[in-house]
Amino acid sequence: MLDSKAYEPERDLNSPNRNISPITSEINESGHLVVGGCELSGIAKKYGTPIYVFDELSLRTACRSYINALKKHYPGDSLPLYASKANSSLAICSIIAAEGFGLDAVSEGELITALKGGVNGKKIVFHGNNKSENELDLAYKNNVTIVLDNHQDIKRLKKIVSINPVQLMLRFTPGIECHTHEYIRTGHLDSKFGFDPDDVENVLRELKKYEWAKLTGIHAHIGSQIFETQPHIDLAGVMADTLKMAKEIGHQITDLNLGGGLGVKYVQEDDPPSIDSWVEVISKAVVQACEKRNLDLPRLMCEPGRSLVANSGLTMYQIGAKKVVPGIRTYLSVDGGMSDNPRPITYQSLYSACLVDKSSQSNLEKVTIAGKHCESGDVLLKDFLLPPCESGDFLAVFGTGAYNYSMSSNYNRIPRPATVMVCEGLVELTQRRELPEDLLQYDVLPDRFITKN
Ligand code: LLP
Repeated sequence: MLDSKAYEPERDLNSPNRNISPITSEINESGHLVVGGCELSGIAKKYGTPIYVFDELSLRTACRSYINALKKHYPGDSLPLYASKANSSLAICSIIAAEGFGLDAVSEGELITALKGGVNGKKIVFHGNNKSENELDLAYKNNVTIVLDNHQDIKRLKKIVSINPVQLMLRFTPGIECHTHEYIRTGHLDSKFGFDPDDVENVLRELKKYEWAKLTGIHAHIGSQIFETQPHIDLAGVMADTLKMAKEIGHQITDLNLGGGLGVKYVQEDDPPSIDSWVEVISKAVVQACEKRNLDLPRLMCEPGRSLVANSGLTMYQIGAKKVVPGIRTYLSVDGGMSDNPRPITYQSLYSACLVDKSSQSNLEKVTIAGKHCESGDVLLKDFLLPPCESGDFLAVFGTGAYNYSMSSNYNRIPRPATVMVCEGLVELTQRRELPEDLLQYDVLPDRFITKN
């Protein structure tokens, strides 16, 4: 059974991914939950619910942990890239750019958000298994490194590249299994991403013939929400083999990009490695793999998404209707659900939550938190312990900073929540709440459908 004591009093302040709640969370003298120096119920009353609350210090701390760990454990150059699919916004992009990160983008939308957010194109890598010509053109014109995923990318780039060669990385499927949810494994052979390993040598030889193509890096990504470190150790070996092959064919490879994947703590049972120890493991693995093959150390890149932003964020809801199904379950409905957090219904993901103004742990009741969408599976937390609560109470669901806003929808024509960033007592709006009228802006009603009364 899950427990509502999520605002844990003991935290790993250097590695936000090892805590359920943001590192600045505390209970004040009135028993109210405070994050980034701001009382959460005050935010809910002022900005409405549901609302995403993002703790700036947790994000900056996670960024600094990656940067410092790479400096500490890797003797060569390094560049961590933020996998912006986890949560793409101008505010987050500008923070990660200021912290010295590069960025991974997978669409025109993520690319323009990063560029407008102040990330230098030279520090962006552009991914995707079906990139359009427009997307490739935009990336090329902004000096973005393009990650070749398949033969179509090569064909399309051939048409687009003009005077300056395009900087490329090559992505391949490394054939490494890891124990995470089936949908979020990408490194095994049956994957839509990257070149098949048996095809890599041919592609490397083909690219060598093209003056317009400047291959500088090798990329692989094996999955997400990974707690074990062995898969990344194995990955370093497989990638070093490919790096060696590329060098032998004559490519000047400087970059080795091991992708993302470090897991985070959503519930008490989760025990992910710290950012520092994950970086230590991948650094040592790359150093050893290169020494063994007599290779110069490449610039080490990694692409964390979830471990930078998940635990910086939380979502606040207001509790509404209650339904007791005698002998079975008590449902408490909130004013959001699967449209702002599709992870429980998609991956059966578990979360932790608490009532922001009721920190008491006595008389806990088992409840199920349901969303407001017309779908029985729209449940955010099942059989969860909360202190007695009433309609109107505010509930914080932790760990929602990654893959919540970015995977949100308008199912049932429900507008997306606002996002506020909190820091040292300051609350700033970084994404305004959608309005029901906003949802009509792309509808077009042909004249002949207009009903005449
Ligand atoms: N690099 C590449 C090429 C990726 O495909 C991903 C994630 C990352 C980096 C970042 O991985 P992370 O550090 O966040 O684990 N929607 C799913 C997660 C899908 C991850 C897709 N790729 C979820 O909500 O769990």
